[in-house]
Amino acid sequence: MRGPHNILRLLRVGATFERTGAMRVVLDAANAPRNIRFAAKALLAPFRWIGVKGNPEQPPIVRALNALGPAYIKFGQLLSTRPDIVGSKLADELRILQDKLPPFATSEAKETVRHELGIDVDETFLEFSDPVAAASIAQVHRAIIRDGGGEVAVKVLRPGIEKAFKRDVDAFHFAAAMIGFLLPFSRRLRPRAVVSHFESVVLRELDLRLEAAAADELRSAAVNDEGITIPAINWHLSGRRVVTIGWVDGINLGNMEELRSAGHDLPGLGRRLLQMFLRQVLRDGHFHADLHQGNLKVSDSGDLVVLDFGIMGRIDEFTRRTYAEIVMGFLRRDYENVARVHFEAGYVPSDRNIHEFAQALRSVNEPIFDMEASRISMAKLLAHLFEVTEQFGMTTRTELILLQRTMVVAEGVARTLDPKINFSDAARPIVDEYVRSNLGLTAARRDIKRVARTLHRIGPRLPDLIEGAVRKLDPKAKPERQQSVYQPVAVFLLGALTMATGILVIHFLTQ
Ligand SMILES: Nc1ncnc2c1ncn2[C@@H]1O[C@H](COP(=O)(O)OP(=O)(O)O)[C@@H](O)[C@H]1O
Ligand SMILES: [Mg+2]
Repeated sequence: MRGPHNILRLLRVGATFERTGAMRVVLDAANAPRNIRFAAKALLAPFRWIGVKGNPEQPPIVRALNALGPAYIKFGQLLSTRPDIVGSKLADELRILQDKLPPFATSEAKETVRHELGIDVDETFLEFSDPVAAASIAQVHRAIIRDGGGEVAVKVLRPGIEKAFKRDVDAFHFAAAMIGFLLPFSRRLRPRAVVSHFESVVLRELDLRLEAAAADELRSAAVNDEGITIPAINWHLSGRRVVTIGWVDGINLGNMEELRSAGHDLPGLGRRLLQMFLRQVLRDGHFHADLHQGNLKVSDSGDLVVLDFGIMGRIDEFTRRTYAEIVMGFLRRDYENVARVHFEAGYVPSDRNIHEFAQALRSVNEPIFDMEASRISMAKLLAHLFEVTEQFGMTTRTELILLQRTMVVAEGVARTLDPKINFSDAARPIVDEYVRSNLGLTAARRDIKRVARTLHRIGPRLPDLIEGAVRKLDPKAKPERQQSVYQPVAVFLLGALTMATGILVIHFLTQ
């Protein structure tokens, strides 16, 4: 219930922010006027004592959110990926939020597994370890399935986490409404939309079946990609609160010392990571959006292992093609063309000046051409591009921001593995391959096949459509109700056009 009982909860949040110094950081980021700052201080200061103290060694925002619990940590993490909302300074501060919490008891995890899957844990598993990692939503156990079922990672949701999130998200909704009402200057940041988005992201993460499906989709897309391992889901040991996935031994990508002493090819791994990410984005349109070192390993055989499929991004084919054209245009320094693609795709409103837009694009790209190759960053290029397109009225698209943020992380990890990595060299084969199969003749042929398939599907309805249109055109026929003459004409023309295209397509395909 989004009732006033949330006021007390929010007061505690406000008091915690005040006590930890986080309030000042937030007000700075929001460019709050002086009277608001004064009011906030006057209101919250007497309640400081009900605020949580947190760990004074942490920076204010991190300290406050960690003290307030899982939903706040997650919310902070989400905002760290949205510099468009909180500003880049606050986003940077939030980025250091670690998603780590003390583990819960193994007996509780076993109880969840038993209850969720309806199995006897000791009968199913030969071994079931204590937690190997614990985060705000779930924790992971290493287990061995009896009768040669192999070694697996069992991820189990925290007991009561759904309820806790529901309660906190409820307070977030209330806060967003209050903030929007009391502080009109904050509406620009669309607090209610942000909370709704957060809610949908978290709801997804609280259903581990979705994580299992994401892992499965990613794995089947990458099954022929060399040097990449995505462990398989064990579906009959997975449910809403438990997911079981093949265990992969190896070294965490954050552990540089160990990686080095094991003699792994670090520059090769950096390149492979970047290429894997680009392949997911361009070829599959479905990408892992949480590629930090903790979610990556190197297996004993030298494969790059990808784990943790809680946050994924998706980019539709139209957007992928459009952006491929944009990147190509950038590489050729053909700014008029890049601008045109933006206009044609409807990304930039048509009342803007295309030449001015092209000029702004030039200002983004030219400095990058001047850089030394190893310093060129795709993530930075995208960030600049979004800045310019936003100035020209393009609405922010969450999936593109997620893409850009993930690219920052992937590039960061790749650069740790190889400080001299050349991103454009690494990216070229993947981009070339995409362009070859998506912007040329092959793509045209595939599009035509698709049109033919659609025509084939609606084919049986075509005669009726045309007959209906003709009947409506017939002056002797009684009109059932007054209708514009354009409508039947349009339907008729559409029918004729689809038929003609169909014949052409069939001709094309049978050649
Ligand atoms: N299939 C697996 N094989 C080996 N280790 C795993 C596997 N899955 C998870 N882990 C270990 O558990 C840690 C946490 O798992 P992860 O899926 O990232 O959970 P969280 O969502 O809590 O971050 C990983 O960093 C990794 O060390
Ligand atoms: Mg993880």
